[in-house]
Amino acid sequence: MLYLHPFYQPGAQLSLNLRSCVDDKTERNVQATVAKAFTPFTMSQVLLVDINPPIPDILSGAKTSFVLKVYDPRFLQHRKGTKSSAPHPWTLKAETTAARRRAFGATTFLPTWWPDDADAAGWEEYYFSNLQQLFTNELAAYTRLLPLQGRTIPHCYAHGTLALPVAAARAVAPRVLLLSYVPGPALRAVHPARIAPPVVGALVDTVRAFGALGVIHDDLRPDNIVLSPTDAVARPFVLDFGNAEVRRPDQSDDEWELTLAENNEPKQVEIMLDSLGVQHLAT
Ligand SMILES: Nc1ncnc2c1ncn2[C@@H]1O[C@H](COP(=O)(O)OP(=O)(O)O)[C@@H](O)[C@H]1O
Ligand SMILES: [Mg+2]
Repeated sequence: MLYLHPFYQPGAQLSLNLRSCVDDKTERNVQATVAKAFTPFTMSQVLLVDINPPIPDILSGAKTSFVLKVYDPRFLQHRKGTKSSAPHPWTLKAETTAARRRAFGATTFLPTWWPDDADAAGWEEYYFSNLQQLFTNELAAYTRLLPLQGRTIPHCYAHGTLALPVAAARAVAPRVLLLSYVPGPALRAVHPARIAPPVVGALVDTVRAFGALGVIHDDLRPDNIVLSPTDAVARPFVLDFGNAEVRRPDQSDDEWELTLAENNEPKQVEIMLDSLGVQHLAT
């Protein structure tokens, strides 16, 4: 049986401090109720939440159902251990030590090495920076891809922090992103024969548009693509920009073209569709 922390069980209340993704001037405290958790969690914790009554000034119209991504290092799957890494369970002590060191400016860079197994606070810093990076990548990508929001990627409505109850005793305030809910099956769950050629074309065009707008997704997998809505004329939506690389302001057109050519994500999509047995016309 999958263990789900009480924070994330259906019916749980979450307190969020949010700013609009479009105009982030004012922070609002918003109460959300968990409707469902998209388990198993790997990196972030992804939830379907209700926000009622609606908050039309930052959360589009009368909508009350949203996807909340929480970047809490406490629940990272990697902590449980892998073939090459021992388990590193969360402790408040290690989290507090890491937060203190960070406040003194001792670790303001992203560690690229794996800390020593005995260095619990080092692991906390490693996990913390990893999740901060995922959040930063994702928000930067959504900002760049504003013209595609609601068409081929979710809307990004708000970003902010999860206000954990004092009793939860934490030294960090996890980042959150509030997105539109895109109903429908993941590409992986759809029979290849039911994926029509226009869907394939739209997916390749979408990925090409990412590049033109200054984004490389870098995690194009069938789990990160949803066909929505749930019927025969479903359109592809791409999710999960945690690994995305966003064009830097100092990158020239030539440099960015080179980065796009090196990654060739439209080609990667075709290879992925081939491996799933989906028919497509080579471009
Ligand atoms: N906006 C969304 N609408 C519908 N389902 C979503 C949305 N965002 C995430 N999900 C679901 O949650 C899963 C995990 O979300 P994802 O953004 O891929 O995070 P992770 O970094 O954990 O892979 C997705 O594979 C999808 O099933
Ligand atoms: Mg994913």
